[in-house]
This record gives sequence, C-alpha cells and structure tokens, in this order.
Amino acid sequence: MELTFALRGNILYTPACGRLELRPQQYLVCEKELVAGIFTELPERFRGIPLHDHGDRLILPGLVDLHVHASQYAYRGLGMDMELLDWLEQNAFPEEARFAGMDYADAAYRVFAEELTRSATTRACVFATVHRPATLRLMELLEKAGLRGFVGKLNMDSNCPDYLRETTEGSLAETRRWLEESAGFSGVRPAITPRFIPSCSQRLMDGLGQLRREYGAAMQSHLSENLSEIAWVRQLRPAAPFYGAAYAQPGLFGGECPTVMAHCIWSGEEERALMKERGVFLAHCPQSNMNVSSGIAPVRVWLREGQKAGLGSDVAGGAHLSIFRAMTDAIQCSKLRWRLVDDSLPALTLPEALYLATKGGGAFFGKVGSFEPGYEFDAIVMDDAGLPTTRQCTLAERLERVVWLSDGLPLAKYVAGRRLF
Ligand code: GUN
Ligand code: FE
Repeated sequence: MELTFALRGNILYTPACGRLELRPQQYLVCEKELVAGIFTELPERFRGIPLHDHGDRLILPGLVDLHVHASQYAYRGLGMDMELLDWLEQNAFPEEARFAGMDYADAAYRVFAEELTRSATTRACVFATVHRPATLRLMELLEKAGLRGFVGKLNMDSNCPDYLRETTEGSLAETRRWLEESAGFSGVRPAITPRFIPSCSQRLMDGLGQLRREYGAAMQSHLSENLSEIAWVRQLRPAAPFYGAAYAQPGLFGGECPTVMAHCIWSGEEERALMKERGVFLAHCPQSNMNVSSGIAPVRVWLREGQKAGLGSDVAGGAHLSIFRAMTDAIQCSKLRWRLVDDSLPALTLPEALYLATKGGGAFFGKVGSFEPGYEFDAIVMDDAGLPTTRQCTLAERLERVVWLSDGLPLAKYVAGRRLF
C-alpha cells in the first residue's frame, strides 16, 4: 500500500456545519493514512510522491452511514406498507431468522459487503442478527473489503418470536464469546447492540452494561423512533422517566460508553439534554422514518442544541443504501417539518446535509469525515460527466447535482489511505 500519495481534482468538504469549502483543481495529500493537507502546488517535501490525477472530477470525504441493518439488505424495497412494530414481526424477524444458517448468512452478507463497497460509504455502524457465527462472518467480509466501522451481534431475549429469542444467559454468554472472538479485528470493531428496549429484559441490559465496561466496547441501538414503540417502552419500564433512561440506567448511554442511537424522532427535552451531556450520537434516518410511518425528526433543533448527529440509511426500513439519498431525504423531510409542524425551524441546506453525512457522523469514529490535516484519509471521487446539462455549473452546483441526481456510486474510493478501487 502506498503510504504517501496525492489526489488531484476538485476538492469539496465541510469543516463546519453548513460551511462548504471549495478547492478547485488542487492537491489532497495522504501521509500514513491521514490527510496531510490541501495544496495549490505540491510542497517541496511531497515532490515526486505518487499522484492520482482525477481531472475535473469531484473529490469528497467518504460518506458515513451511522445506522444500517446488513441482515435486512435482502428485502430492501419490499413490505413497506406497515408501521414499525408490524413491519418488524412480518419482515425483519423472519428474514433475520435465516442467519442461523451459515450458508444463507454468507451469501447474504457477501451481497451486502459488495454493495457497501461499491457505494460512497466508507464507514458504517452495522446491525447483524442475534447469531454470533454469522456476525463474525459479516465482520470478516467488511474488514476484508477494507471498510471501517462497528458491527453488532444483536441481543433479544423478550417480546419476539421463539425462533429468534435468546435466553438471557445464552445472549450474554454468546455476546461475551463474540467480544472475545472480535479481538483480532482492527478496522471493524464490535458494538454492543441491544436491539431496542422491548427486545431486552432488565437482567439482559444489566449484563450488557457489565460486558461493555469489561471490554470497553461501543454501543448502538434504537431510541424514540415510533409512537407505538414508545408507549410500549413506557409500559415495560414504568420507572424510567423517559426512554433513554432505560439505556442510561445500565450504563449504556454515552459518557464512557461511545453510543449511537438511531432515530430519536420523539426524544423530548430531558432525553436530548442527557444525550448532549453524555455525547450520545443521533443517527437521523429520514427514509426509514417515512417508510415505517415513524415521523419527522427535528434535526434543526438538534443542530441548534449542538448535538452530535449524522445520517443513517437504516436499510431495510430505508430502501436505499445511498447516503447521498439520505441527504436529500433529510432535506425534504426538514421542509415538511417546517411547513407542517413548526415554521420556526428552517429546512436543512445542502452543506448542512453534507456535513451530517461526513464530519457529523464521522466524529463517531474519531477524526473522520473532513479533509482537515490529521483526519483519516477517507475520500470518494464522483464523476458528473454522466449528468449532462447545457448549463455552465459552478463547483457548488455540480456537487448539488451529484447529490440529487447521481446513482451515488463513486469512481474511486479510499478508506484510511487505502484505495479500494
Ligand atoms: N427497532 C427495533 N428493531 C428495529 C429495526 O430493525 N429497524 C428499525 N427501523 N427500528 C427498529
Ligand atoms: Fe434500525
């Protein structure tokens, strides 16, 4: 692998939320997996390093998917005529049961890993199923592909069909074994993944909190997604003052525990205040929120509060793996929220959506999602030659057209300094 090299092309990134930096026809230098800088001329010390000249194409930070279910990829685009809880029973659970068989798991996860590799996504937080061997297979495939991220073996000992339900002890023992077996991975790491509060008994959550502390792992789950789900959680955990408190009580809600929570559409002020205080990431999954009729998240409120936030595809609640699509869905949803719910909350702009898709979500992985010096070198090269127009577009307009109109597949992709294609 080349350790030091330069890309040349039209470089675009968002160093702050809503601030689009444009660097036409410049050099982006990678030094030992990190961004060394952007230069109009290569400095003396970089003269002679390998150069990948991408001509007039657009070079962006790799996109980040903060929430995706690899085990639901096979039925994306199907069964969208239900609300969340019925959708889980009728679509998600039967499909996920198939991952008990390694032949099926291997075939399905191969497809997912190949599609994620082809996409503009360089980092992801991925849900597998309750099955430990299949989860390890998924981690192997993603690591071999050169992608980076977190993968979770799910925990489910309550309120699900027998064919998917674990015993509390079995779930904890399998999670411990999986954490042990994950020790050899580097780019793809394990995240403790209780599916959501209804799937997990109090004893299971307490045990997971203990395991998390022992292994120092990250944590991902669902939070305040759908009104029926939230009402159910209120019944299941009457002592919790709000949904997030049921994760916080066993020590699975930020602070020492790096946490990303999907949806948070209905998170109230108290819940959001705790998320802000503990640095919990909010994964906005607008397409899924529409498909399973969950609602429209108040992303503008999150931004004003300074919450840590990014975007998720939530396949198969979302039908599309593309985070470009998640960006435009987020913009469109925010317009509906402004028009129908609260006209004091202006819609998201494209640079804000790009920030969420790159540096916003990327922060969950460290210094990821920007081209500032010291950031991990994740980059995608987008070609807009296949989007003909008679107009002379500025660089910012070309970005806009790529986001709204392209199929989202890059021409070249680099993850932590390694070129995948
Ligand atoms: N809540 C619990 N499980 C799921 C899931 O698989 N998808 C979504 N969107 N929400 C969930
Ligand atoms: Fe989800």
